[in-house]
Amino acid sequence: MNFRLSEEHEMIRKMVRDFAENEVAPTAAERDEEERFDMEIFKKMAELGLTGIPWPEEYGGIGSDYLAYCIAVEELSRVCASTGVTLSAHTSLACWPLFKFGTEEQKQTYLRPLAEGSKIGAYGLTEPGSGSDAGGMKSTARLDGDNYILNGSKIFITNGGIADIYIVFALTNPNDNRSTTAFIIEKDFEGFAVGKKEKKLGIRSSPTTEIIFEDCKVPVKNVLGEVGQGFKIAMMTLDGGRNGIAAQAVGIAQGALDAAIAYAKERKQFGKPIVENQGISFKLADMATSIEASRLLTYQAAWLESAGLPYGKESAMSKLMAGDTAMKVTIEAVQIFGGYGYTKDYPVERYMRDAKITQIYEGTQEIQRLVISRMLTK
Ligand code: CAA
Repeated sequence: MNFRLSEEHEMIRKMVRDFAENEVAPTAAERDEEERFDMEIFKKMAELGLTGIPWPEEYGGIGSDYLAYCIAVEELSRVCASTGVTLSAHTSLACWPLFKFGTEEQKQTYLRPLAEGSKIGAYGLTEPGSGSDAGGMKSTARLDGDNYILNGSKIFITNGGIADIYIVFALTNPNDNRSTTAFIIEKDFEGFAVGKKEKKLGIRSSPTTEIIFEDCKVPVKNVLGEVGQGFKIAMMTLDGGRNGIAAQAVGIAQGALDAAIAYAKERKQFGKPIVENQGISFKLADMATSIEASRLLTYQAAWLESAGLPYGKESAMSKLMAGDTAMKVTIEAVQIFGGYGYTKDYPVERYMRDAKITQIYEGTQEIQRLVISRMLTK
């Protein structure tokens, strides 16, 4: 057993940290305020190879692994959780199912430009009436000659409106929820539209939208995997996606802790830095301990996936632990900053708002417990 990162992983961390601090952090507060996605940042991530970390070079990737990908999401989220989730949804939710279930032609047509970062990916599972109960979807796909005709809508789509390629799920038999099928949708397909953009508490520079299918024409060759295999594809995709969210949560928490330590050392009250009070220093100790535990779970799940071992339970555990840690740590960071922490002059209120979503998306904390307990008892 070796808890040290390899030289390659350390190099990736250093590269992403430099990029995050120099190119992402300076505009994070402003993009949050303006709810603005910055395409230039995505393009720079593509130049650095970050958009295709775990995929082989033959599919446009850099041939690294899921641990390197998690480190990248963590480091981006340490300064800007929106940028972290843009990469996470792109990699885990769009590229992963293409890599795992795509035909060679689908990989060359769709995975390659996504991994190279000339295109952005998204994933559409949730519907207005089906969130935690993902199997309760209503969107349909009717076979008509060489096409499927999709009708319905999906909500809460990360990268909605900025994505070029969407992996979506619909019922090929409207009366049978076992007929869920996965489809690859291009944004220019006839009958596809981007709907309402959500106004959100956090991750405000990551666009979240509705997507709508009105007799949307999807060629049969854009079925991903087998017809009727869609629910399993959706679930397997989330198994890995959840660990990307855990990495995002670890990054948010670390960013908040770093800010809190710096502030506690500098802020003087009653004639001494506030860090000299045990009430503050013990908070910092607890925050750091929870973050380290979350990071270890997250890296373990990423390592398991890279090694080809089962990782679904561990990934649900890492998101459960890291999401709760991010929430707890960011609340404490605001507390350490006191009144200043409640203002937009410091980043900790943004971290606190951003942390909340890690307890909700890619399966609420309650769903993680369901997934973990089912795996423990099956
Ligand atoms: N891998 C492979 N197969 C799986 C699986 C997995 N992880 N999970 C379930 N399945 C299979 C089951 O084995 C079962 O197959 P059989 O019928 O052949 O036995 C089938 O799928 C149905 O499984 P369940 O009976 O367990 O299904 P369920 O209806 O009880 O639901 C659930 C299970 C875990 C609650 C699921 O609905 C779920 O994960 N809900 C949460 C949805 C979610 O995470 N949404 C997030 C949306 S995406 C998002 O947030 C993205 C973003 O933008 C960032």
